[in-house]
Amino acid sequence: MIAIYPGSFDPITLGHLDIIERGSKLFDRVVVAVLRNPGKTPLFTVEQRLRQIHTATQHLPQVEVDSFDGLTVTYANLIGARVLLRGLRVLSDFEKELQMAHTNKTLSTEIETVFLATSTEYGFLSSSIVKEIARFNGSIDHLVSPHVAAELYECYNNQTTQY
Ligand code: PNS
Repeated sequence: MIAIYPGSFDPITLGHLDIIERGSKLFDRVVVAVLRNPGKTPLFTVEQRLRQIHTATQHLPQVEVDSFDGLTVTYANLIGARVLLRGLRVLSDFEKELQMAHTNKTLSTEIETVFLATSTEYGFLSSSIVKEIARFNGSIDHLVSPHVAAELYECYNNQTTQY
């Protein structure tokens, strides 16, 4: 069975990676799908994010990386995915995620949303938090893969890390 794991991934964090690794044990293929969202101004281009995810998931043979635009369920149907994978961190995620799951169900009854509880050590983690820490030159080595950390520091022009 194919699952897609859609998101912005700006950038991919260890929390995302945890969901991908655990998802890849449950499904035959997991397609990490980066939304091309013209409504957002991301830090990294879609191509940069695809490369970052590709490098971070190299050790997982059943994981693929792609981008899409439009509706997630349309893309899922296009590639034959039956499962839409999402991570749940805290209660505040739940409201938005449940609304998305219900919306997606009305759009395509064939697609099931499957939630994985984020591992406790990543419950606080988000791409925005990582960007904020990197911007002010704090340590992010415990939050993202080394190549992503390097790109973040480069972006914020402060490669000489850490407190
Ligand atoms: O990483 P994010 O930003 O929380 O991911 C959100 C995402 C990309 C999964 C969601 O915004 C999405 O599915 N967008 C595509 C448009 C869509 O399908 N909308 C209907 C479902 S609400």
